[in-house]
Amino acid sequence: MGKSPVHATMPQSAAFVLTTPLYYVNGLPHMGSAYTTMAADARARFERLCGRPVVLITGTDEHGQKIQRTAQSRGLSPQAHCDAIVQSFTELWAKLDIRYDRFIRTTAPTHHSIVHAFFQRVWDKGDIYQGRQQGWYCVACEEFKEERELLPGQVCPIHTNQAVEWRDETNYFFRLSRYQTALEDLYAAQPSFIQPDTRRNEVLQFVRQGLQDFSISRLIDWGIPVPADPQQTLYVWFDALVGYLSALVPPDQPATLETVVAQGWPASLHLIGKDILRFHAVYWPAMLISAGLPLPQQVYGHGFLTKDGQKMGKTLGNTLDPLALVQQYGADAVRYYFLKEIEFGRDGDFNEERFVQVVNADLANDVGNLLNRTLNMTVRYCQGQVPAVNPHSLADDHPLARVGRTLGEQVAEDYTQLAFSRAAGRILTLAQAANKYIDEQAPWSRYKQGDHPAVAQILYSVLESVRLCAYLLSPLIPTTSTAMYRQLGFPVSLGEPPLPAYDRHSQWGVLPAGQVLGQAQPVFQRLTAPALPSS
Ligand code: MSP
Repeated sequence: MGKSPVHATMPQSAAFVLTTPLYYVNGLPHMGSAYTTMAADARARFERLCGRPVVLITGTDEHGQKIQRTAQSRGLSPQAHCDAIVQSFTELWAKLDIRYDRFIRTTAPTHHSIVHAFFQRVWDKGDIYQGRQQGWYCVACEEFKEERELLPGQVCPIHTNQAVEWRDETNYFFRLSRYQTALEDLYAAQPSFIQPDTRRNEVLQFVRQGLQDFSISRLIDWGIPVPADPQQTLYVWFDALVGYLSALVPPDQPATLETVVAQGWPASLHLIGKDILRFHAVYWPAMLISAGLPLPQQVYGHGFLTKDGQKMGKTLGNTLDPLALVQQYGADAVRYYFLKEIEFGRDGDFNEERFVQVVNADLANDVGNLLNRTLNMTVRYCQGQVPAVNPHSLADDHPLARVGRTLGEQVAEDYTQLAFSRAAGRILTLAQAANKYIDEQAPWSRYKQGDHPAVAQILYSVLESVRLCAYLLSPLIPTTSTAMYRQLGFPVSLGEPPLPAYDRHSQWGVLPAGQVLGQAQPVFQRLTAPALPSS
């Protein structure tokens, strides 16, 4: 299996701890939230296949003025509002086949205790002081804006339908400026700390301009009170980032930072969108150093989704409802499209016609049909059993064995680098080659000619190719892959333990001679494209 820097530096027994952002509950989950979560789930599934313990953390960010105002506008208490919205997240994750290990809500009592413990450490370090905060605040961003960033009329450049608000308060500040050198040293010593490189450069440039202390408290009600001054509540970001720590505390353990470390902190990977990179790559490591806690290994900032070429958002009214999409087309189709069609790290577009086209071409035709036609031929020509062929006897230049022998290693490298699109592309190349191979070799003619050994060899190599494709695609399309594996005679799930191990099943030549194959049934129904309501 390919060894990446991440794998090389960590003992195999250490858990792979990865996080999605903790999503704001000011509205129902949107496609952006689903995108990060599907990517995290695919990576987690790959790690589990490799036999590594995984802790996939997700959850919700429930405090702050934005949530408070949304609740008010719905005539609900903030807590009642949050409780209702959280359900729509967990429901969506279930429908999308997201296998998370921890779900942290920032309104949980455990989180409250961890935030206080964290604050205390930073306070004891002398990194918190009182000061006057004056400036323009965007509630939608939950962030102060520099005057020069604003559009005419004091409007936030991201939330163009919303004016920023003037604030003049006495707040508590975090001494970020003290960590300028420590952060620069970190980025230099660990070049993969921020990925991809374009994002890394953005952060380096930002830090080079000089870091300023930032206020970590607000005069609002909905939040965690500042321990030293309960009149104030903690700034939502100072609270939410700490959620990654709280998530690690099991229900039966004391909510302390010691527990957090004993349970696997630091995270191996924070997966986020590019808009919240600064919080994760600058503020968060500085906060952790201040609190004397180890740093995550990597922060990966992915790109943004657009719809039909336009920025997706409530302002334009062209958001894409992930729940409607998954109900319409199924989880595997949605997962596959976003992870295959969009190069992770770059911006990417959703277009419904293209969606249907890609998914049908790849999953229904190239992969699904391949399995179906091969199983049918195996029933006809080989009694429905895997033909007795030694996979290692196939020539070095056999068009399928040649690809299949190195594919698992390359795909491992891709998944490790979060290059989902490249992984899927490579796997599809084998499926396409297998379809072509059958057409060229025409086993039906060979059979008529009585050349049974040739038929056995052709069918073996194609069956083995489909198996390999199914296995390697399973982090992306777990349900379809499992259905394929079952039809190939493996009574297993590719999502539930005991998982067939990557170091064996990613290799060429795993199908055992004589294995009885299942009934050929379409594993993936072709999609048709009715108009989707946009929310
Ligand atoms: N609550 C904070 C995160 C705190 S983490 C300790 C937050 N929440 S969010 O719900 O607004 O955003 C969550 C994620 O969705 C971010 O990673 C963001 O980049 C992503 N997306 C929001 N809109 C998006 C697109 N249109 N496209 C892709 N992802 C986008 O920020």
